[in-house]
Amino acid sequence: MEAIVIVPARRGDAPRLAAMSRRLVEAGLEPCWTAERIERHRRSQDSVVLTARAAGSVAGVAIMQYGDDAAHLNLLAVEPAHQRRGIARQLVIWLEDTARVAGTFTIRLELRASNRAARAFYTSLGYRQSGWVRGYYQGLEDALRFERDLAVRSVAGAG
Ligand SMILES: CC(C)(COP(=O)(O)OP(=O)(O)OC[C@H]1O[C@@H](n2cnc3c(N)ncnc32)[C@H](O)[C@@H]1OP(=O)(O)O)[C@@H](O)C(=O)NCCC(=O)NCCS
Repeated sequence: MEAIVIVPARRGDAPRLAAMSRRLVEAGLEPCWTAERIERHRRSQDSVVLTARAAGSVAGVAIMQYGDDAAHLNLLAVEPAHQRRGIARQLVIWLEDTARVAGTFTIRLELRASNRAARAFYTSLGYRQSGWVRGYYQGLEDALRFERDLAVRSVAGAG
């Protein structure tokens, strides 16, 4: 199995990342993660567009935007052929480490209410549901709001 490298997105990645979002995250919705929007985040000092690359090609992507009080995980997707290899976990841990260094200790995100895999994924990383937003996705689907307090480190088996 080829090595996975976690690196910030490169110039020219945005169209490929937008296509991944359309296929893996926004299916059935009007796409809002256009290549132009992703490129704006890639150039912004308040955001990181992160990729996981296998043999040079993009296997996963995550976009995080850093605010004063909280960081928002805007997008996360891993190509089906590369899922369940810990790639999303590596991407999120990289972004969480960066948030800690920036002094931001809350990570928030929304996910489609029907997305059981994502719910299991975030729960496995210590995220907890903090809300439910009716019709968040273009009135077509509800969102679950999840968040994690990075200042709290839970220790497996403790307590
Ligand atoms: C959700 C998603 C990002 C997970 O990516 P991944 O790289 O496969 O996840 P990881 O391998 O890092 O999984 C870490 C842990 O999360 C949990 N998990 C991940 N996918 C899961 C699934 N389909 N079902 C149940 N648990 C899952 C498991 O506990 C897993 O650990 P394990 O494999 O040792 O059991 C991926 O399924 C995906 O891209 N889905 C489509 C897009 C999407 O839903 N994005 C997130 C919402 S915006």
